[in-house]
Amino acid sequence: MTDILSSSGIKEHLNEQNKDLSIEIYPVLDSTNLTLKEKAASGAPEGTVIIAEEQTMGRGRFGRKFFSPAGTGIYMSILLRPQLEPSDSTLITTAAAVAVSEAIEEVTGASTSIKWINDIWIINPDTGKHSKICGILTEAALSSGSRYPDYIILGIGINVFEPENGFPTELLDIAASAIGSDRSIKNSNDSLTDLAQYDGSYLHNTRNRIIAAVLNKFMVYYPELTKRSFLDEYRRRSIVLGRKINVIENTLRPDVSFSATAIAIDDDCNLIVELEDGTRKSLYSGEISIRL
Ligand code: BTN
Repeated sequence: MTDILSSSGIKEHLNEQNKDLSIEIYPVLDSTNLTLKEKAASGAPEGTVIIAEEQTMGRGRFGRKFFSPAGTGIYMSILLRPQLEPSDSTLITTAAAVAVSEAIEEVTGASTSIKWINDIWIINPDTGKHSKICGILTEAALSSGSRYPDYIILGIGINVFEPENGFPTELLDIAASAIGSDRSIKNSNDSLTDLAQYDGSYLHNTRNRIIAAVLNKFMVYYPELTKRSFLDEYRRRSIVLGRKINVIENTLRPDVSFSATAIAIDDDCNLIVELEDGTRKSLYSGEISIRL
């Protein structure tokens, strides 16, 4: 059964208060984030949502590519114009991570976890292997002298079905080398996987339903981000708390890393880690991998 993206299929599952969101679906875009940036710059309203069946230049964090083959994933960007201090903008990403994790679970039954700061992982019940199924890239446009960002693009990429030809090794290799950390850890724990296989069936309308669920959930958190009502759920879903991790603090220097234990996530979504000598550090950004 083919799973077709459609604006009407999404709207069918949107809550009443979200029915007015403007949802545009394109067969192919270079990047939904880039297209939405152009629209934002020409005045598109908050709540404009751009979705593509395929991206030719899907962008990830730290300049990486995001593999975006046709027909099997969700590549969506949401335009936000929040009155949010720049220091609070992380709340958008972390609230979105909770919304996506909850949405995937609601639609497919698969239980998912959040890898700080904004990846969604799934555990294969047969092998116990953890794999990345979603990444989030939030990009802000700031103008000098203005207290709030002009706009923020919230980009979400979810691997829903297995791509027809599988996940190409050469692209996974590119993603791993863009991180520049230990490839064996990256490839065994942080590789892409197929969400639908855990569900056991290819549900009709799956992607439309996941998109609607993401929007419904995120739009509940969004108006009260600074109340942090999503944060307990973020912590509960965290796959890193209590685990030993490797940290690359500066992603421009991927060769420099250190070992630590993830202790807590504070109210600003910083990851508090304890180093081997017992000192604690608060991480605002950076790349972590879980040590087995
Ligand atoms: C990451 O894993 O580093 C973040 C990946 C974000 C991918 C999404 S797909 C939709 C939107 N458009 C893009 O070009 N990137 C984001």
